[in-house]
Amino acid sequence: MTEPAIRFDDGAAYESFMGVWSRLAGDAFLDWLSPGRGERWLDVGCGNGAFSTLLADRLQPSALHGIDPSEAQIRFARERTLACPAEFRMGDAMALPYAEAQFDQSVMALVIFFVPEPAVGVAEMVRVTRPGGTVSAYAWDLPGGGFPYAMLQDALRAQGRSPVMPPQAAVAALDALQAVWTGAGLQDVATTVITVQRIFRDFEDFWQIALLGPSLAPALAKMAPADVAAMREFVRTHLSEERDGRIVCTARAHAIKGRVA
Ligand SMILES: C[S@@+](CC[C@H](N)C(=O)[O-])C[C@H]1O[C@@H](n2cnc3c(N)ncnc32)[C@H](O)[C@@H]1O
Repeated sequence: MTEPAIRFDDGAAYESFMGVWSRLAGDAFLDWLSPGRGERWLDVGCGNGAFSTLLADRLQPSALHGIDPSEAQIRFARERTLACPAEFRMGDAMALPYAEAQFDQSVMALVIFFVPEPAVGVAEMVRVTRPGGTVSAYAWDLPGGGFPYAMLQDALRAQGRSPVMPPQAAVAALDALQAVWTGAGLQDVATTVITVQRIFRDFEDFWQIALLGPSLAPALAKMAPADVAAMREFVRTHLSEERDGRIVCTARAHAIKGRVA
């Protein structure tokens, strides 16, 4: 297997960079999904457990399994205290180590665009979910500029550079998600658009948190200081700054759900 271009190997850094965003979108996603309490959940690509904690707090699953290829993320997830029985293990969405029909709910939170073959990952979720159970996902609208840090990507493009993108960014478009879900034989497929806002104390707060992401710091390390300064300036002028200096950042995710036949 080739090494992924975007690697998640720091659970604590992930928490500020993306965990906060994941729970903001995850809250709206769960309002829409409206699942019952006490179900058996599988959180595919659980990462450091950011969305898993929300599941545990809001729904008290009878069982919660999280799986992710990143050892560091899984280590961080295991150290969390969750409000339900939880088991985190390393593994791949494309070959889930679970038997058929084990779960009531299988979900991918901000993951599907990292899975090399999204259709295979979704087929795996269908396999391990019981008939009548739900397979769902939410993903930043990468093709439509909905990524919370899209501004940084724009800043790189403004300098003629190519930002590193997840390998399957295009699957986050609503019609692409729909094609994968219906192609997997899921029924009553429905989608929604989720818009969330996060407030940063000031520009420096935004910038330092952005630097915690897996791709910005490595990109800046290869740039001349003048280009880094130009990039900072581009981002600052394109962000929406309140009169008190706070930065209000908006992001958009696409969500999808379907019922296993
Ligand atoms: C943006 S993070 C989302 C983490 C978590 N679900 C959340 O909501 O914060 C994407 C996660 O997908 C994981 N990932 C990448 N490739 C994967 C694969 N083939 N199977 C399962 N997870 C994968 C990464 O390791 C990373 O933890």
